[in-house]
Amino acid sequence: MSYEHPSLAPLAARLAAVPTLPADALDAEEIAVMGRKQGELTLLLKSLATLSIEEKRAMGGALNQLKQAFDAAFAARRAELAATAAAVEARQVDLTMPARQSWTGTRHPVTLVVDEIVEIFRGLGFTVALGPEVETDALNFTMLNFPPDHPAMDMHDTLYLGGEGGGGQVGERLLLRTHTSPVQIRVMQDGPPPYRVVIPGMVYRNDAFDPSHAPAFSQIEGLAVDEGITFVDLKATLTHFARRFLGPDTRVRFRPSFFPFTEPSAEMDVGCRLCDGAGCPACKGTGWMEILGCGMVHEQVLRNVGLDPERWTGFAFGMGPQRIAMQRYGLPDIRLLYGGDMRFLTQVGGGTP
Ligand code: DAH
Repeated sequence: MSYEHPSLAPLAARLAAVPTLPADALDAEEIAVMGRKQGELTLLLKSLATLSIEEKRAMGGALNQLKQAFDAAFAARRAELAATAAAVEARQVDLTMPARQSWTGTRHPVTLVVDEIVEIFRGLGFTVALGPEVETDALNFTMLNFPPDHPAMDMHDTLYLGGEGGGGQVGERLLLRTHTSPVQIRVMQDGPPPYRVVIPGMVYRNDAFDPSHAPAFSQIEGLAVDEGITFVDLKATLTHFARRFLGPDTRVRFRPSFFPFTEPSAEMDVGCRLCDGAGCPACKGTGWMEILGCGMVHEQVLRNVGLDPERWTGFAFGMGPQRIAMQRYGLPDIRLLYGGDMRFLTQVGGGTP
């Protein structure tokens, strides 16, 4: 519908405003436009009689359309206001109540830590790789050089999937991966070296939920394989990481350890940040906190994926972002990170509770 005659533009604008008029303005506006004596539209319609035939033709149709449109608009707005009033009445809505505060979300503390760690390794040329949480025991254990009777494969430690308590041939059973290390194998099977990857993801163990354990938690795995990589590269990379993440003065130490898929293996500790090395309950009086396991990729693991250990060497590491978040934010209980309590989460990440 068009009221394009220039003299009708002001009325067309008022028509457009009718749907937003408040109840107490509606009657006055209707009288001002359509009132029998002084209504603006009424006067224009009356003045048609004084116009020439051509002018009548030009204006008459437009004015009548405008009148119908106003009639419809006033009726519709009146019905709408009546419906709202009825709803308020029926629900006994108290319009004087304060409005609900708008809510801002935030990233979870563990997500913050994972993102920050990944970003540090990205700066060293690592890319992110991902793998499935349901894994075969071949990739989770065998290919990583676990012997067939390793205690980690026990039903008490690992959550197996499928029938009959997870029975079947080793190499076929499905399980919830107990670590992100099988993704090392997947990465190496996917294409030729060199590799520099970090692998964040959830892992699962048949563990109790207590202040320092959870049956589902996250890990970040790392793998670097190339020609000429040595233990010096491992130490330099992980020391750089610790100092970027915890501060440039962070002290680190490497302790000999054992993992089936690395040789030699080590555990990296950082100076306890709470007591500055003096010894406190958080570091069990040692002045050090363990933050990751690491080592040179075992020759057998390289052979398992068809790489010649005479040519290719590398290092790997694995850490637990929940543990790291606990240290960073001074948390006494890992279960805080699982509760979804907004008062806790917003203390760390910001946003509104
Ligand atoms: N997969 C080990 C665990 O879950 C952590 C780990 C240790 C990963 C040493 C590594 C490594 O890649 O080199 O306990």
